Amino acid sequence: MREVIHEDSSEVVEKVKVKEPVKTDKSVEMTIEDLPGVGSATAEKLKEVGYDDLMSIAVASPSELMEGAAIGDNVAKRIIQVARKNLDIGFESGIELLKKRDTVQRISTGSENFNELLGGGIETGSITECYGAYGSGKTALAHQLVCSVQGIENEKDPVVVWIDTEGTLRPERVKQIAELNDLDVDTSLNSLRAVRAFNSDHQMLLAEKVEDLIKKDGLNVRLVIVDSLMSHFRSEFIGRGTLADRQQKLNKHMHVLLKLAKNNNIAVYITNQVMSKPDTFFGDPTVAIGGNIVAHASTTRVYLRRGKKGSRVAKLVDSPCLPDGESMFFVTDKGLRDE
Ligand SMILES: Nc1ncnc2c1ncn2[C@@H]1O[C@H](COP(=O)(O)OP(=O)(O)OP(=O)(O)O)[C@@H](O)[C@H]1O
Ligand SMILES: [Mg+2]
Repeated sequence: MREVIHEDSSEVVEKVKVKEPVKTDKSVEMTIEDLPGVGSATAEKLKEVGYDDLMSIAVASPSELMEGAAIGDNVAKRIIQVARKNLDIGFESGIELLKKRDTVQRISTGSENFNELLGGGIETGSITECYGAYGSGKTALAHQLVCSVQGIENEKDPVVVWIDTEGTLRPERVKQIAELNDLDVDTSLNSLRAVRAFNSDHQMLLAEKVEDLIKKDGLNVRLVIVDSLMSHFRSEFIGRGTLADRQQKLNKHMHVLLKLAKNNNIAVYITNQVMSKPDTFFGDPTVAIGGNIVAHASTTRVYLRRGKKGSRVAKLVDSPCLPDGESMFFVTDKGLRDE
């Protein structure tokens, strides 16, 4: 039965019967349908837009839910509150955390030096960002990673999703690297799901759709590449006036990518462009674009630049547990190599 639960003269109030929050009982798992004011149609809508468990609702903002599932302000606030109450937040012990870290896999960069710098390669479960000037090797690494995915242990039919914003993906380069490394060329090419993003909205949508490849199509996505992250955002939002809008959208995009990485133990590799910081007096004035939003969402950040004699230098700029350092590698026909 529906009844008014709260009168507020300033707005139309959702008329829903509020169920009592389910008591925390480990044997009875609360589902989205159990939330107050959520019927099967709303539950379906919520799931469609990615809110498919209590955690995703508990950490959402009311406006996100309102927008995504066309529900009212009060219902959104209420279900977030109930989801939070009923969520088994579960503080984890160090042992449990360590066990979880054991599930992290590494994807080889092709260069031993570069792998060592990264603690074994690009890791799953988080975002790795490489930024640098044109020709520094960002896209070259992406091509190498497509082939390296075949080398992850105990993975059945690993898939790589490549969101290409600049039209620089070259299947013939994947073929070349696979061939020269005695990998099965068809397997490498078949593992690739490539899509061209035509503007920033399209790019954001594509990132959201990766979840469907996993959940609906049952693909074993191990790596998601966004090359490059900022090109559309950079060209579409010119001038200070629109910077706040840009950062808001970018924030949403980064969260989708981060959630994808964490929930599915996927490696997300993003490339980024650079700009010169005019107020730098000492050291290299080159910084990544995208500001704090990109910097905070990327767990590992690497700055790539050209070195001596055609080499490339990778500098670890930010990592939660590895020392800062540099390593040298070359872009070769075979992919990335130490020499
Ligand atoms: N088969 C190859 N053998 C040797 N070097 C190669 C090969 N393919 C590409 N390169 C080198 O790699 C460089 C291209 O780097 P890459 O495309 O990764 O740049 P990027 O960092 O993505 O730059 P941008 O910002 O323009 O996208 C070229 O300068 C080229 O010299
Ligand atoms: Mg590139």
